[in-house]
Amino acid sequence: MSILNILRYPDARLHKVAAPVTVFDAPLKKLALDLAETMYAAPGVGLAASQVDVHKQVIVVDVSERRDSLITLVNPEIIERSGESDIEEGCLSVPGIYDTVPRAERVKVRAWDANGNSFTLEAQGLLAVCIQHEMDHLKGKVFVEYLSQLKQTRVRARLAKQLRKSA
Ligand code: NI
Repeated sequence: MSILNILRYPDARLHKVAAPVTVFDAPLKKLALDLAETMYAAPGVGLAASQVDVHKQVIVVDVSERRDSLITLVNPEIIERSGESDIEEGCLSVPGIYDTVPRAERVKVRAWDANGNSFTLEAQGLLAVCIQHEMDHLKGKVFVEYLSQLKQTRVRARLAKQLRKSA
């Protein structure tokens, strides 16, 4: 397994739309494992392939305290949604920025695992928000793009400052 480089907002590659996975082969399994390892190392609760510049519909999430509940979702599709959530979210591509954006409180998702087995998952709360956040990445959308223009300008200024400090 390898730890992959995570793209940082406002990198234009974060806006590419991911293609559905059509072949469940060894490289796909490796991608899923690498995504998980990269997420755990960061550490984060979710990661989409888009964030490591691989534009395929693959996401990994683990919102458990013990970091032992990895879920890999290939070609995820939300088939039911309900309620409204206001859980604050962050993103490994937008370090240090946290805010709330409109999300459903509960979602039912249909997806495939890395072996090509389909399943449905019912999620609520943080897991539901995390899945919606990661699925947005597959569409090329980063959570800060839900915020007002003023807030987005502030986010970009803060990130630019972080980069200067780390340079
Ligand atoms: Ni994110």
